[in-house]
Amino acid sequence: MKTRLILSLMLAVVWAAACGQPGQRGKQAAGNDVPVFLDDSKSIEERVEDVLARMTVEEKVAILHAQSKFSSAGVPRLGIPELWTSDGPHGIRPEVLWDKWSQAGWTSDSCTAFPALTALAASWDPELSKLYGQSIGQEARYRKKDVLLGPGVNICRTPLNGRSFEYMGEDPFLSSTMVVPYVQGVQSNGVAACVKHYALNNQETNRFVTNVKVDERTLYEIYLPAFKAAVQKGGAWAIMGSYNLYNDQWCCQNEYTLNGILKGEWGFDGVVISDWGGAHDTELCVKNGLDLEFGTVTNNPAAASNAYSNYYLADPFLEGVKSGEFDMKALDDKARRVLRLFFRTVMDRNRPYGSFVSPEHIAAARKIGAESIVLLKNDGGVLPLKDEGKILVVGENAVKMMTVGGGSSSLKVKKEYSPLEGIKERFTNAEIVYERGYVGDTDGKFDGVSTGQDLLDNRSSAQLIADAVTAAKDVDCVIFIGGLNKSLFQDAEGEDRKSYDLPYGQDDVIEALCAVAKKMVVVIISGNAVAMPWVDKVPAIVQDWYLGSEAGHSLADVLSGDVNPSGKLPFTIGKQLSDYPASTEAQYPGIPRPEPSKMGVQDVTILDEEYSEGIYVGYRWFDHASIAPEFAFGHGLSYTTFEIGDPKVSGSIEKGLTFSIPVKNTGEVAGSEVVQLYVSAGDSAVERAPKELKGFSKVYLEPGKTATVKITIDKDAISYFDAGKHVWVAEKGDYSALIGTASDVLPKTVEFKY
Ligand code: GLC
Repeated sequence: MKTRLILSLMLAVVWAAACGQPGQRGKQAAGNDVPVFLDDSKSIEERVEDVLARMTVEEKVAILHAQSKFSSAGVPRLGIPELWTSDGPHGIRPEVLWDKWSQAGWTSDSCTAFPALTALAASWDPELSKLYGQSIGQEARYRKKDVLLGPGVNICRTPLNGRSFEYMGEDPFLSSTMVVPYVQGVQSNGVAACVKHYALNNQETNRFVTNVKVDERTLYEIYLPAFKAAVQKGGAWAIMGSYNLYNDQWCCQNEYTLNGILKGEWGFDGVVISDWGGAHDTELCVKNGLDLEFGTVTNNPAAASNAYSNYYLADPFLEGVKSGEFDMKALDDKARRVLRLFFRTVMDRNRPYGSFVSPEHIAAARKIGAESIVLLKNDGGVLPLKDEGKILVVGENAVKMMTVGGGSSSLKVKKEYSPLEGIKERFTNAEIVYERGYVGDTDGKFDGVSTGQDLLDNRSSAQLIADAVTAAKDVDCVIFIGGLNKSLFQDAEGEDRKSYDLPYGQDDVIEALCAVAKKMVVVIISGNAVAMPWVDKVPAIVQDWYLGSEAGHSLADVLSGDVNPSGKLPFTIGKQLSDYPASTEAQYPGIPRPEPSKMGVQDVTILDEEYSEGIYVGYRWFDHASIAPEFAFGHGLSYTTFEIGDPKVSGSIEKGLTFSIPVKNTGEVAGSEVVQLYVSAGDSAVERAPKELKGFSKVYLEPGKTATVKITIDKDAISYFDAGKHVWVAEKGDYSALIGTASDVLPKTVEFKY
């Protein structure tokens, strides 16, 4: 009896020690000494280890899953606060109820809507990306959000992808360069950036059940670089797993991408957060690298709709640890990562307090917007417009609010200046008249936020066009403002576009106006390329974006010439959809499997999708297939002209090969140019894209002035990924640096060897 008593006492002591009963381990929180985890003078790692040792198993599991729609638990007993996340990449989502998507009805959460990330990418300006990250991070901080669910950096593989507007275009180098300062800017506020959606989430159609099959080289050369840069150069504190599968494993519980690549090869020390509902199995979540589970709608009949204790990383995990199915090491690794996130954010007493809808943020939104607008065509110098005469503005996108809608990036703003408002405010000497031209999406609500606009118009399409044409005959200039919008099957989460064409009969409106207009400008507002069958009939074409709160001001700044356009396309605009690579069903949207599969407790049909075009994405494809685009990647005109001089080369590819490139503003007005450097490999052991962007630099010049732009490349710029050896290979041989101002305007070539 006595022996048994002693034995059970010993077991109790061992278990208590293993589970870190309060006060049993680590330094006692006694008297005046501050516990290590509360001592700011200690390193984050010391504080993590101290608090980890003080936590019970239950407390460790509790911080690994949501407790509400957008928050996860802290450790109340130890005074560690909850962790709050918020969408999205363009601004801080309005508050929702604890366990519902619907609005909390706050009156203090109307934010600054910054331009969509495709616009940021189109600025080709890393300094603006830093400003963007700092500003949106300040807004997140002010709203007491510790994790910003953004930026998104999925590569634009098809122009039909509903969420292209949330991402940074078709090129891995451009995305990799632009994501780093954004992440650093956000995190300078003590707010984590959560870079998404890792990985291969390149479409919305069937996003929950698409199994992507892509060769290893393409994965490493095209689809991973922006995430790798965000982690290794940006120091991202969080990564969001994507909904889709890769090689038959859901990406929120994917051994290879999470444990193998992200945490293994890249040394990621942050937290992998599931997309909302992206977790599907406790064992795989535990073993394959998920750290923080959000949004799982459990189907457990005993649970309420979202019974958080039934999440895969909740009670099922806790029971598994207690039964010995899962070891404490797995639990501690996850808890350690989440605690590290705590100490980088909510437990950092020195982090700034942020700011919200400040004049600085509004100015930043306006500046980034204006710098992102791409002047595609300007025959006869139609633009910039003089503030005189009579100007007709036509199109629903001239008036429609675009900050509401599009899915989880939808926002509630204090004010969104529409293009028409911006034009009226700027062109005060001209007479501005407006015609609708077409009726598209008259809804203006998303998740309980409404634009309050009444866009109903019962005129027939024919009448709308007739009215616009009649007005057009009587003015000096027509500005058509159309494009896509944030409604489903356009630029919106959850579904892709069904067509590459402009919707709502806009092509007919444009054609009709071209026939009568003295001067015609077409402004396309979209997050994706669209077909432009009227391209030869319109002298001036502008690619505009979803620019948020200051949309109208940014556009008017450019149309008036107050800002000289300097944006460059972050993706190729093809003449037709069939010009793009993902043209077979197997490539997009994928082939349904004959038999259902399990997604959690649901039976679903998985679709297998082959990225068989491999590395030939975007301009790489158009070059490889010798297809002329409508407008090329990197294209963008200015109101002035620039001349690229003869580059001088110094250094070596091993230590850094620097190209010093003279750029002269040969026009009449100041402006910025983006000097781009593409590398083309000579003979190679493997297939190579004809050229690849490997450097760029934006420079502002007064008229007549010259500057020397320096672009340095190293072995990374000439390397390809050898999947067989699983290494990057810098192949000996001849290379060419193609230098210019667009992927199809590369007047200077410099040969070099390695
Ligand atoms: C959504 C999106 C993700 C977002 C999350 C929370 O489904 O895919 O980008 O951050 O859920 O709203």
